[in-house]
Amino acid sequence: MDGSGCTRASLREGFLAEHASIVALLNAVIGAVGAGDDARAAEAWRAFASGLLAHLDAEDGLLVSAPPQERGARILVHEHRFIRGCVSELERAAGRRALSRRALENLRDVLSAHLRNDDRFLYTWAEDGLGERLREAALAALGARLAAMSPPPAR
Ligand SMILES: [Fe+2]
Ligand SMILES: [Fe+2]
Repeated sequence: MDGSGCTRASLREGFLAEHASIVALLNAVIGAVGAGDDARAAEAWRAFASGLLAHLDAEDGLLVSAPPQERGARILVHEHRFIRGCVSELERAAGRRALSRRALENLRDVLSAHLRNDDRFLYTWAEDGLGERLREAALAALGARLAAMSPPPAR
């Protein structure tokens, strides 16, 4: 609780909510690809990819400005690089309207495994380890990203 009696916003919960939104966008891509709807798949892909890349940029920024314990930071940087590679590959496939359902499902599995490391090495630590100024800035940026993230197309 803060001085006004309101619950203090949790950076960790915000990051977890952002992950859930990103996965919902990815599920929309998978659904559209499964339905053979190329136009909807392309639209959902753009929303997913931009949401995911903004999330990774934010996490990389935290890892640079206030890295948690070294081993954890190394693992996250490595995994982010791998995920960005997957997104680049799928981006090329999306450009050819050739997104593969299996490749998208593999990426969902990768993101799910990565979330455990994000939580273990970054989110839990960030609540207290970031310091008040960086924490407030990270919270504000997170709120803006969540507000900007378009919901999956409902069709
Ligand atoms: Fe991450
Ligand atoms: Fe993350």
